[in-house]
Amino acid sequence: MAIRIGIGGIGGRMGREIAAAAVLDPALELIGGVETGPRPDLGAGIEIGDDLNRLLPHIDVLIDFTTPAATVENVEAAAAAGVAAVSGVTGLSEEQLTALRRAGARAPVFYSRNMSVGINALVAFLPQLVQALDDYDIEIVELHHRHKVDAPSGTALVLAEAIAAARDVSLSDTATYGRHGVAPRQHGEIGIHALRGGGNTGEHTVLFADEGEEIQIVHRALSRKTFALGALRAAKFVLGQAPGFYGMEQMLTRLG
Ligand SMILES: NC(=O)c1ccc[n+]([C@@H]2O[C@H](COP(=O)([O-])OP(=O)(O)OC[C@H]3O[C@@H](n4cnc5c(N)ncnc54)[C@H](OP(=O)(O)O)[C@@H]3O)[C@@H](O)[C@H]2O)c1
Repeated sequence: MAIRIGIGGIGGRMGREIAAAAVLDPALELIGGVETGPRPDLGAGIEIGDDLNRLLPHIDVLIDFTTPAATVENVEAAAAAGVAAVSGVTGLSEEQLTALRRAGARAPVFYSRNMSVGINALVAFLPQLVQALDDYDIEIVELHHRHKVDAPSGTALVLAEAIAAARDVSLSDTATYGRHGVAPRQHGEIGIHALRGGGNTGEHTVLFADEGEEIQIVHRALSRKTFALGALRAAKFVLGQAPGFYGMEQMLTRLG
């Protein structure tokens, strides 16, 4: 039987992309979604409303790409109804992240700030490079479309956290977000820079540099489809899990 999917923020950029991919997947059935903004017309039988509680009894998994406050509310409501949830919303505060973790006590909850396999493979590989280049300067530069709200991107933070962990330092002590005025580079700092403009769906560069050489690793998301497919894969993964809080690492290594 197909997995019944509902989408939070179904009219948004990611919500529309996930809906388009879901209807093409025979293992999934798109039941409907909730949306506070303009509602897309996805054809007969796909219900779009503003009351998640009406949708929850009809779905197996909620996939939410709304806003930080809305995703906490939606995932909590799903978990209270015993419905598995996937959230890909970025820019969550520590409190909001804790709320998602708590919701995982009642139903399986999957959260990832980047649903692409490529970025997650890079995150797994970065520690080796950081340790091999232990005294190199490291900077992260990300570029996103002009509508992106949070900065730096969730993905830039994931990359920076992986680098800080590999160096055994805290990111809050070592991160420098942009530079302005007299701002010489400090030894060991991790520079993080956010560019905004146009329609870019997401580009991240990690620079390793010393005085004699540079390495740049670039990841480009060529369309939102890659994130949408990752979110649908997460929905299939999380449905089979016990209540808990899951991420890409568990899914890609098939743990949990
Ligand atoms: N994890 C990943 O791989 C990944 C990839 C891409 C994007 N993202 C993140 O996903 C989030 C959404 O991105 P996006 O580009 O799709 O944003 P978007 O185009 O603004 O879509 C969000 C949609 O959710 C709606 N919404 C807000 N609150 C709601 C609520 N309570 N109930 C139902 N719908 C609600 C918004 O409506 P209004 O117009 O009324 O606000 C909007 O239509 C962002 O945090 C972004 O950074 C994550």
